Amino acid sequence: MINEIVVDKVSKELLDGLNKTPKRISSKYFYDKRGSELFDKICELDEYYLTRTEWSILSENISSITECFRDNSLLVEFGSGSSTKTRLLLENIKQLGGYVPIDISEQHLDETVIKLNQEFSGLEIRPLAADYTKPLQLPEIHGEAEQRVIFFPGSTLGNFTKSESRNFLKIIRSEIKKGDGFILGIDLVKDTKVLLDAYNDSMNVTAEFNLNILQSINDQFGSDFVLENFEHKAVYNEIENRIEMYLISLVDQNVSIGEDLFYIQKNEKLLTEYSHKYTIEAIEKLCENLFTISKVWTDPKNYFAELYLLPV
Ligand code: AVJ
Repeated sequence: MINEIVVDKVSKELLDGLNKTPKRISSKYFYDKRGSELFDKICELDEYYLTRTEWSILSENISSITECFRDNSLLVEFGSGSSTKTRLLLENIKQLGGYVPIDISEQHLDETVIKLNQEFSGLEIRPLAADYTKPLQLPEIHGEAEQRVIFFPGSTLGNFTKSESRNFLKIIRSEIKKGDGFILGIDLVKDTKVLLDAYNDSMNVTAEFNLNILQSINDQFGSDFVLENFEHKAVYNEIENRIEMYLISLVDQNVSIGEDLFYIQKNEKLLTEYSHKYTIEAIEKLCENLFTISKVWTDPKNYFAELYLLPV
């Protein structure tokens, strides 16, 4: 019996990131099975207000949100994860034509779809395991849907750089037509202390989540990152309005990935995530010539906003 560890070909994107200064690792590598579980744990932390706040916005405004859906429309979700917030929509939209959850973690997606099929027996679900930052072919659904509504909650847009988010919005725009809609969840600019606490929680779950990105890369590409050699740190960049998450190297070290060897100095920072915070005006500008803001739902503290965008 040959016992072979299967590793993927090291992606060019990963190597390019590690050749930058500061070195950076794309946030999409967070979400292996363990990372997805850790993210679910983050969402339950006292300090991590995002998920809870968005949930309350969606539930408080559910009737006005479901009014955006015409009969037999197709709900397409980018980065569906456990589809927790989506259940609110699935339970309340009167006549949904189908649901397309899209997620990068195939395993997480499969597990979620099994549960959804049990909970929503009449609903047609067409999952798609894909990297949605690249253009993709949406699955066919039984009978042509009249209207597509894209759902992109969780302020995941905030993980992209300004130019990546503009590109992503262009991709979404190209996948829908006039008459379709786009529900977007974004985290708003607020008191810095609230933001810093949300990304440096007292139970260190965010630290574990951040370090797990190295494990996820080791597992996928056979690299030899030693997790104990790094420390989690999240800072707020007031100029760019974003949280920046880093892994700080505790020692001088070498890491090998495939054929490449990377030298990492003691105290060197590896950037693992941007989490942009927005004002409505900033979103308006980001959407220029692509979408107009048709509705804004927010919470009493103005921590988070759910937007209904219409294609221009
Ligand atoms: C999943 C992108 C919304 O930016 O807040 C949570 C991920 N990172 N804690 C965020 C995350 C650290 C999260 N998003």
